[in-house]
Amino acid sequence: MQDRKIELNDPVDEHRALHETESRIALAGHPLHAMLVAFPIALTMSVFGTDLLYWWTGDAFWARAAGWAAFGGFLMGVIAGITGTVELLVVRGIRNRSASWTHFILAVMLLSIMGANWAHRIGDYVAAVLPFGLILSAIAAGLTAVTGWHGGKLVFDYQIGTKMPDEKP
Ligand code: HEM
Repeated sequence: MQDRKIELNDPVDEHRALHETESRIALAGHPLHAMLVAFPIALTMSVFGTDLLYWWTGDAFWARAAGWAAFGGFLMGVIAGITGTVELLVVRGIRNRSASWTHFILAVMLLSIMGANWAHRIGDYVAAVLPFGLILSAIAAGLTAVTGWHGGKLVFDYQIGTKMPDEKP
């Protein structure tokens, strides 16, 4: 009879791995994603604010500021999204929680709108604001609030991307 190697799964080990939600994409223990998301959040809100200021004052300065903020927000959003996606794919306990995938879907929708909002302004950033630039900014600001709130939920409710206390001796 042939010698067959049987691999057994240890349910205790399996269980432990499912609860492993510590951040691995981190700098000295600080999750990179959490550090980076501040930039797209602030810049996306700034695009909405500067669009409103342009609508109110008609001053082209605000339209130019909105164009740069839309570019910076999209760029930093993509970088933050890459760190979040690597975390999601690499850490088993994060990958196994449906809430992480909900956050991913929300974030990809947000990044698409942020990209469209920036691309729409290339060429003529002043004419781009009213009405479509402003509409895109309003949607992006709302979706940023939802995605950011949901990201916080991952951390505070599910302890995703946090550090577990060291075991007592
Ligand atoms: C594109 C894919 C994305 C994935 C896969 C992703 C994944 C994650 C994960 C796994 C966490 C838990 C913390 C950690 O492990 O670092 C998290 C937290 C968070 N995410 Fe994302 N994320 C993405 C994009 C975004 C974007 C674009 C935003 C900006 C609105 C965002 C906002 C947040 C916030 C605010 C937190 C909570 C950070 C904290 O309080 O420590 N995420 N995300």
